[in-house]
Amino acid sequence: MILLLLGPPGSGKGTQAKKLSAEHGWPQLSTGDMLRSAIARGTSLGERAKTYMDQGALVPDEVVIGLIEERIKEKDCTQGFILDGFPRNVAQAEELDRMLGRQGRRLDQVVLFEISDPELIERLSGRRTCEKCSSMYHLLHSMPRQDQVCDQCHGRLLQRSDDQPDVIRRRLGVYHQQTEPLVGFYRGQKKLVSLDARVSPSAVAEALNQSLN
Ligand code: AP5
Repeated sequence: MILLLLGPPGSGKGTQAKKLSAEHGWPQLSTGDMLRSAIARGTSLGERAKTYMDQGALVPDEVVIGLIEERIKEKDCTQGFILDGFPRNVAQAEELDRMLGRQGRRLDQVVLFEISDPELIERLSGRRTCEKCSSMYHLLHSMPRQDQVCDQCHGRLLQRSDDQPDVIRRRLGVYHQQTEPLVGFYRGQKKLVSLDARVSPSAVAEALNQSLN
């Protein structure tokens, strides 16, 4: 199964991709995580990406296309994978179709996470992530047992640099302008199903599993 989780920043794609990955064994391919890892390692690619990410803009297509093209050739992707955050515009989607076609494969399904901008702003402003194991928390909905400390590994909980209010607003603008056209693109390919992403994480997971069946 090659699955794409499509939706605005904060709609819960990463939360559900991790859960699905644990349940089905398909790796989660998050371009955002790959870029943040490059930044943390201080690579030149990371340095280049950081200037775009800190402004809430998209990183140039050739950078993320290169990352995905290399990643899907790895052995753990043979049985399928979950795309989270890629593609993010029509040019990336067309390139994805081409790169999968070269491998004799195709994207099976796209799940659209539907939720309003005010709810997204609340979710992103309250998000905290463990610097060691990337476990995710929310200051209101999913608090850690100990303030600013990860329940899983006792790592420090940090706020992402692009989760500041002005950057969140820019990311949402970029989503509506550049990523939302993918809804029509995948509806045209008859691969799109939508789900209500406003409900609890477990209710979203249930709807997602049903849509896969
Ligand atoms: P990326 O890392 O992909 O971020 P994003 O798409 O903006 O998505 P998020 O990770 O912010 O949100 P999410 O939908 O995964 O929600 P989450 O599960 O975390 O991209 C970051 C940047 O990298 C981009 O701005 C761009 O610069 C660059 N980039 C990445 N890919 C690129 C590409 N292909 N092309 C160009 N540039 C690219 O949940 C959010 C919060 O809500 C958490 O606190 C969580 O606990 C909580 N939550 C989740 N589900 C629920 C629920 N059902 N109810 C209540 N709370 C919930």
